[in-house]
Amino acid sequence: MAAWEANDRLDDHFQQPRFLIWGGNGWIAGQLKRLLEEQGKEVHTTTIRMENREAVLSELFLTRPTHVLNAAGCTGRPNVDWCEDNKSQTVRSNVIGTLNLADACFQAKIHCTIFATGCVYQYDQTHPIGGRGYTEEDRPNFEGSFYSLTKSHVEPILSSYSNCLILRLRMPVSDDLHPRNFVTKLLGYERVVDIPNSNTMLHDLLPASIILAEHGQTGVYNFTNPGSISHTEVLQLFKEIVRPEFSWKNFTLEEQAKVIKAGRSNCTLDTTKLVAKLGEYKYGVPEIHEAYKRCFKRMKAAGIK
Ligand SMILES: NC(=O)c1ccc[n+]([C@@H]2O[C@H](COP(=O)([O-])OP(=O)(O)OC[C@H]3O[C@@H](n4cnc5c(N)ncnc54)[C@H](OP(=O)(O)O)[C@@H]3O)[C@@H](O)[C@H]2O)c1
Repeated sequence: MAAWEANDRLDDHFQQPRFLIWGGNGWIAGQLKRLLEEQGKEVHTTTIRMENREAVLSELFLTRPTHVLNAAGCTGRPNVDWCEDNKSQTVRSNVIGTLNLADACFQAKIHCTIFATGCVYQYDQTHPIGGRGYTEEDRPNFEGSFYSLTKSHVEPILSSYSNCLILRLRMPVSDDLHPRNFVTKLLGYERVVDIPNSNTMLHDLLPASIILAEHGQTGVYNFTNPGSISHTEVLQLFKEIVRPEFSWKNFTLEEQAKVIKAGRSNCTLDTTKLVAKLGEYKYGVPEIHEAYKRCFKRMKAAGIK
């Protein structure tokens, strides 16, 4: 798919990028805003419901962004188990809303980046633990949660739009101990499973999302650091670097299944496509173990204990 001509708008040919972040009060949205402000870019946010066509069109008309960053989505509180009991609300946001916003951007000739999920696979015989990862071409094979089901069904339709960049995040990690940070979640569990997974270090990947969007890239990208890391390895590094007194207990997938309502995806994503594309812009993404070490050192330097 050819790159979207981000600045090729009839009315405004030489304009600078102007970002509009959807889901303005969300966790990832807040970090995107901060990053763009640090980069000195023009950035706006909105909390308008994505499924409200008139309000979406009006917001696009008033703000006139060159780029929409869609960080809105129904993620469930306290976690995705909520989506199992609130299916119509989940569909309204993750299917109808996400498609509506992408379509409205297409009609208005605006590039649209969607912060999507890679939790659409599970290890199987052809993609076993320690074996090859899932590429963007592989069909989703995890429908154990309604949240993942909505995301995996909407992705192929979204990717038919020539203005959409779809970034598949997994278990995102920030440099603080925000409650939505994957590490904070691990620290709060009584017991953790010990399965390797692909993770998204936001420090490394949010700047990459801006690079891809500004260059008008489109299509689907597995949006994680290269490699995979087990929950135990994450906690070991955390203990080594940040909190020496920390201890934890493991349990099996079967034991975990007894305390959660929706299934959880465990998989490794292949990042070849992402790394090659970012290489064209001279942007490197560290392997996940190295990325965690750097993250925990930043935490320690910031006084987080
Ligand atoms: N955090 C993760 O573990 C993770 C992993 C992979 C992918 N993602 C994806 O990344 C995106 C951002 O995640 P996040 O962690 O920042 O989630 P978050 O903190 O829950 O933020 C999502 C935001 O979207 C808003 N929202 C929900 N439905 C909406 C709708 N129909 N129209 C407009 N806004 C709506 C929510 O507002 P209200 O609360 O008012 O509804 C909330 O402010 C989501 O699409 C999520 O699926 C997250």
